[in-house]
Amino acid sequence: MQPTSSPPQHQADLNGRLEALASQVNELLEQGDRPAARAACESMFALNGAYNQAHMLMARVMMPGDNYAAILSRLHRHLQPAGYAEIGVATGASMALAEADTHCVGIDPCPRVTANIAARARLYPVTSDDFFARYNLLEELGVERLDLAFIDGLHLFEQALKDFINLEKYAHPGTVVMIHDCYPPTELSAARDRVMAYWAGDVWRMIPLLVKYRPDLKVGVIPSLPSGLGMVTGLDAGSTLLEERFDEIVAEFMALEYAELDERRDELLPPLSNDWDAILGQLPG
Ligand SMILES: C[S@@+](CC[C@H](N)C(=O)[O-])C[C@H]1O[C@@H](n2cnc3c(N)ncnc32)[C@H](O)[C@@H]1O
Repeated sequence: MQPTSSPPQHQADLNGRLEALASQVNELLEQGDRPAARAACESMFALNGAYNQAHMLMARVMMPGDNYAAILSRLHRHLQPAGYAEIGVATGASMALAEADTHCVGIDPCPRVTANIAARARLYPVTSDDFFARYNLLEELGVERLDLAFIDGLHLFEQALKDFINLEKYAHPGTVVMIHDCYPPTELSAARDRVMAYWAGDVWRMIPLLVKYRPDLKVGVIPSLPSGLGMVTGLDAGSTLLEERFDEIVAEFMALEYAELDERRDELLPPLSNDWDAILGQLPG
């Protein structure tokens, strides 16, 4: 009888092959060979579809250039926002990118702040829905203008949509809203239920939804690591369409499958080049 490899040995072999492929992807990326790096990622998926590192490497293949923090940091320096709101604070890493004289409101039911944001931010340990039900954002900011906002809370598109609707009520025509996680590189990273450490959820659905129902807005997606940044400008505090048709719109976009995103990515997620000049060109004058 042929000896069969025991399950632990089989697992060790598999891990070895995955690690070798991961090194190969890193080398190919260093050489600038993205198609070959993508193919090596696909080989990793064939071995283990839920291998977290393979999804993170695919993100690197698809999103060259500055990461979201670098872009947010440049936006803060360029816009010098009087008021900044952040939904989803976690450790405070993104909140810490705000300029010293920007008035900040951070909203997160489970903040775990380690970054030094105390001088700049008022932190509200509640869900975004609770915050907007209880407080007036501009009053809490203590300034007359919400110039910049970052939506990075619950990774479900209907919640991100509610967050956008609530923020827009306090917006002026020059307000910039950034939305994290709008460019998931793989189906598993875009799942509504988190299955891996690397997770964007289905926030991406926000983008085609805004494009269809709010043609008055300027909407684009910057393919920036780790999972893309949506950028929305041209806001209208008086617009009520999204709120009035919320249930219908959510049902319509819940039915949009990831496979369609994969096929029509550039059409569904209008690309904004990950290049500072292109981003500047999208900002309100
Ligand atoms: C990805 S983390 C935010 C990371 C942070 N913006 C950064 O870039 O450093 C997402 C955060 O959203 C928070 N969150 C989850 N549900 C939320 C909700 N309904 N309202 C506001 N924040 C929420 C979580 O507690 C978590 O800390």
